[in-house]
Amino acid sequence: MSYDKSYNLLKGKKGIIFGAFDENSIAWKVAERAYKEKASFVLTNTPASLRVGKIQELSKKTNSIVISADATSICDLNILFEKTLDHFGGKIDFLLHSIAMSINIRKKLAYPSLNYEFLRKGWEISAVSYHKIMQTAWNKKAMNRWGSIVAITYIASQRSFPFYGDMSDYKSYLESITRNFGYYWGVKEKVRVNTVSQSPSVTRSAKSIEGFDKFLVFSEKMSPLGNATAEDCANYIITLFSDLTRKVTMQNLYHDGGFSNTGIHESTLI
Ligand SMILES: NC(=O)c1ccc[n+]([C@@H]2O[C@H](COP(=O)([O-])OP(=O)(O)OC[C@H]3O[C@@H](n4cnc5c(N)ncnc54)[C@H](O)[C@@H]3O)[C@@H](O)[C@H]2O)c1
Repeated sequence: MSYDKSYNLLKGKKGIIFGAFDENSIAWKVAERAYKEKASFVLTNTPASLRVGKIQELSKKTNSIVISADATSICDLNILFEKTLDHFGGKIDFLLHSIAMSINIRKKLAYPSLNYEFLRKGWEISAVSYHKIMQTAWNKKAMNRWGSIVAITYIASQRSFPFYGDMSDYKSYLESITRNFGYYWGVKEKVRVNTVSQSPSVTRSAKSIEGFDKFLVFSEKMSPLGNATAEDCANYIITLFSDLTRKVTMQNLYHDGGFSNTGIHESTLI
């Protein structure tokens, strides 16, 4: 199977992609690959990110429309879903949540010194937004049967990574929403809900984490296959949107070159 070839895996499928900011964003890579696999989709991000980021460039490249929405606002989400269903003239098949933000990390507040107002805001953006997106889709009856909903997480949800601050807690919550809402979606609509636990990759969000560069190198050494890139992540997510993974749901799926199951890599001992 060639890496670059298109397999029409998403032919006829429609969706919404949250979180493409610039060409480094994981959501950007997912949009590029989804387009290649013949999907149609709506791109969305906050009004501020639409102004500062490069989403219009992606929109042109992928022949998709852009609708602004703050994913913490039920009002914005209602409008986004209404416009999307109207645009496609019917239901959609996939949703990507590729959203995260920690004000505590941005302000360099270490875990023992968290500011609780920042904590609440970061949790709303990085975790509760996943529930809100799914609740809006649920209420609008927006998803086709055997659709697929994916969010992106990191292993700091399961183990202690000091530099990851309160984002660790948001990711644990995100994974919990996946299990709990996944049950309801499965029973009612046969829709899958999963998280992909991705290797570190250089994006705008990742760069705000102190010591990220050193950690990237460490992670590369600790992963038998090496770090998975954002493009690798996009390829994996496309399979989760496709019909080839219809019975995978309520899972946290590691996509990290083996990092999560490696105790020691010999190269780190030298
Ligand atoms: N880059 C990594 O190393 C890495 C590793 C594992 C998981 N992840 C996760 O991947 C996802 C995508 O992050 P990325 O690394 O591509 O960084 P990114 O900065 O490119 O993307 C984050 C996006 O979240 C959007 N966002 C922030 N607040 C929002 C809001 N209120 N409503 C809607 N959108 C909002 C931003 O505008 C941005 O587009 C995040 O969930 C992140 O935690 C990243």
